[in-house]
Amino acid sequence: MAGRVFEVTLQPAGLTFLADGQQDLLTAARDAGIAVPAACRNGVCEICAARLVSGQALNTRTHQPCMPGSEIMLCRARACSDLKLEITAVMAAGQTIPRKMQARVTGLEAISHDIYRVRLSLPRRRELVFHAGQYLAIQLPDSEPAYFSIASSPDQAELELHIQASPDWVSAQRVVDALRTLTEITLELPFGKACLAAVPRQPLVLVAAGTGFAQMKSVIDYLRHANNAQPVHLYWGVRRLADMYLLDLAREWEQELAPLFTFSPLIGDNEDNDWAGHHDQLARAVLSDGHDWANVQVLASGSPVMVYTLMDALLAQGLPENAFLSDVLEYAPR
Ligand code: FES
Repeated sequence: MAGRVFEVTLQPAGLTFLADGQQDLLTAARDAGIAVPAACRNGVCEICAARLVSGQALNTRTHQPCMPGSEIMLCRARACSDLKLEITAVMAAGQTIPRKMQARVTGLEAISHDIYRVRLSLPRRRELVFHAGQYLAIQLPDSEPAYFSIASSPDQAELELHIQASPDWVSAQRVVDALRTLTEITLELPFGKACLAAVPRQPLVLVAAGTGFAQMKSVIDYLRHANNAQPVHLYWGVRRLADMYLLDLAREWEQELAPLFTFSPLIGDNEDNDWAGHHDQLARAVLSDGHDWANVQVLASGSPVMVYTLMDALLAQGLPENAFLSDVLEYAPR
């Protein structure tokens, strides 16, 4: 039976989640999609330790109340009131310091005429904390770092990337060629502030062009395994139908996540007569769906022109500036 629900604030990350008085704080945090490090889940390893700053909690090992100022294990504590906890191991969105790691290349397959799906395994995966929507750098010898969105969610064991490459796209093709022969590569990660560190409190609008879909896949996979209660609308724009390289997957999400998930495929090529989807430009199509722009969060991934066109249009419709997230704002500021 569900108990009373309390709000728990994690400092210094500033993340909040709701905890039913009948469940442990670790489970409640993870249901909210917040990555709290944990191992034993039995109050022994102390990996999930936090300091109780204010509020009342119950230690479920000793059945004693926890006093403000004391250390509590999130896996063995329940909320008896709203709580403030200090836990430095939990990072706010985009605040994790990037670091270098070695990864094994465990998969490389063509999934369209020019998109490759890459799978990477990290020997010390549990040491890596990232948030859904972040990106990484592949550092090949004698090359500039090559940046790619992480397409897998933070709770998946392997990392997945979607790399668009063709012989006339030299830098990306060089990466794919290297991944064919190297068994181990150097990564630097995670990067990017356009990400989710907890389930959204508002409806989420995801707008991707081309391989910007990879970032959205990370977010959707993350939300599939957290207790997301907010509607999610994914717009995916491509130039031609053949470029919609994981269309079947997006259709599966429609089935699995209905009615909370809406998918709008968009294609720019009016001559593609096989296609029954929208023919509008991405930004116009997003605008025309009449979301309550004062009450949504938007994550956009695509070219700077697309992203800034969309952002300007949505801000003019009343979207708060801090509700628009895109890596473009960082790497191509205007
Ligand atoms: S996970 Fe080990 S003490 Fe909480």
